[in-house]
Order: sequence, then structure tokens, then C-alpha cells
Amino acid sequence: MGAHTTARHIACIMDGNGRWAQQRGLPRAHGHKAAVSAVDTVIRTALEEGIPWLTLFAFSTENWSRPQEEIDTLMDTSCQFLRRRVHDWHRAGIRLRRLGEETPRISEDLRQELQYAHQLTQDNSTMTLTVAANHGGRGEIVRAARTLVEQQVPAEDVTEESFAQHLQNPDMPDVDLVIRTSGGYRLSNFALWRCAYAEFVFPEVLWPDFRAEHFRQALELYAQRRRRFGGATTSIPHPRSPQPQPPFGLADSLPSLSSVLSLPGGIASRLGGHLLAGLYDTARYAKSQLETRNEPPL
Ligand code: IPE
Ligand code: IPE
Ligand code: MG
Repeated sequence: MGAHTTARHIACIMDGNGRWAQQRGLPRAHGHKAAVSAVDTVIRTALEEGIPWLTLFAFSTENWSRPQEEIDTLMDTSCQFLRRRVHDWHRAGIRLRRLGEETPRISEDLRQELQYAHQLTQDNSTMTLTVAANHGGRGEIVRAARTLVEQQVPAEDVTEESFAQHLQNPDMPDVDLVIRTSGGYRLSNFALWRCAYAEFVFPEVLWPDFRAEHFRQALELYAQRRRRFGGATTSIPHPRSPQPQPPFGLADSLPSLSSVLSLPGGIASRLGGHLLAGLYDTARYAKSQLETRNEPPL
């Protein structure tokens, strides 16, 4: 297991297939076909890093508005891919699940393949791989509300905990980290309930170009985040991440924050910790972006 694997549940919004193809003068469908190697990579890397829950957003309820030809290619590609991989995943201890409403709009072949994979792998426990297909966060919440009404649950018994028990796959934990490729900074209706306190990383690569190093960089960035869940910051450094230290000699050559800002020593040192942590986060992110573009780090 890697050093930065504190995230229990990672979700990937696998965006950018169409642009990947368009940049090469190819039909969008080629982007979806190229996407499968990134899916292979992310699953393998998540296993190596010991991530227990990995969710891949494959098709949203809004994606039905795409041309039928593109949808057909996506279904065919996903079906063939699943058929090729399911036994490898089973051997690796992966439990495959679906997130999203059942619908006859998903091709019969793909539905059968998903069903087979689900049944075959249901007792595995190394990693739960959830494929979100025909998934929409709002729809999922509405379905949970509908079930509560149908079961005539008294209003006073509807709590956040009991509500969450009516979501699909209720044992699935909240998402810790959302990775969205391709420069979009949004959820696009993904798992709204479970992303309430998720951290976000936005690698600029298009999904078919997403590699193990991008995944690991995202884990590293996550490890530097200070998750507070609404609470106050109580201490610097955060218990999960070592406090970054300035390079040797730098601290001695700078005037102290306490004297520059006329602050008491304790407050100045906490503020300094924040400033440094932010600077290091930014530097790490800039370095990852340069590496992604194959430019040498500064
Ligand atoms: C993600 O890539 C795949 C799906 C949404 C099914 P896109 O097809 O959205 O690619 P872009 O965003 O158009 O480049
Ligand atoms: C999000 O991508 C959905 C998936 C990756 C499956 P979209 O390409 O559909 O998102 P928008 O339309 O840019 O928000
Ligand atoms: Mg897109």
C-alpha cells in the first residue's frame, strides 16, 4: 500500500473522451474506446494503493441527450470491456456493483454483463468497484424520498442516517475524494448526497490520458488537505500530514511573521503554518501540471 492512501472512497468523473478524439480528428466514439485503458489503470492503481471503494462515473442520466450512435458505441465498448475483464477482477478480489436506476435503455447485453459480474463478485472484499451508469445524484435522492413515503415512515423518523439507508447501495461510504479530469470543475449531478464533504482534485488531462501518476498525485494532494467537516482548525500540523518545513536556511533569512505582522508568537506560528501548507500545496499542484504537460519542473 502506498504512503498517501488515507482516502477510503475515491470517485472518478471520467470526463474528456470526446475532446480526446476530436483533438485527433477522430469521431467521438474513438475517445470512449481509448478510455478503457485509463479505466484499467485506475483500477489497478487503486488496488495497489489499497483503496477499498472506487466509483467510476460512466454515464449520467443527462447523457441520454447525446446522439444515439454515440450512446450505442459507449454501451458496446463498456460491454466488451466488462466481458474481457470480469474474471481478472474477480481473481483480484474486486466486488463489482452498479449505481444508477435500472432501465431498459441500457442495452440488454450490457445489463446482462453487469448482472453477471455483480453475482460473480458479490462476496469479494478487497475493493468495491462501483460503476455509475444511468446515475444522477438528484434522481437517487428522489428515489430514496419516494421509498420513505411508500413505507409510510413517520416524519420524525426521517433523519440523515435513516434517509441515507434508503439510498442505493446504502453500505457505500461517503466519497472522500472526487477526481474529475479534463478541466471541468463541477459534479455534473454525481452522487450529491455522498459528496457532501468530498475533496476535489482536477487533473487537467483528458480521461483517456489519465495514468497511474495522475492518480497517485491526486492521492498526494488529498493527503495534504485539512478536512474539517465544519469544525474549527484545532492544531497545526494536521495529524495526517507532516508539517512542511522551509528549505534549510530559508527560515533564518526571513523576518519572523510575528514581527512583520506584530502578532503574538503562537498566532504567528499557526498563521505561518497555514501559509506554508498552502504554498506547498500550490507548488505540488503546479509541479504536477507541468509534469502532465511534459514540461520540466521549475
Ligand atoms: C466522458 O467524456 C464520457 C461520458 C460522459 C460518457 P465526454 O464524452 O463527456 O467527453 P467530452 O467532455 O465531450 O470531451
Ligand atoms: C459527466 O460528464 C458525466 C460522466 C463523466 C459520466 P459530462 O460530460 O456529461 O458532464 P457535463 O455535461 O460537461 O457537465
Ligand atoms: Mg464531458
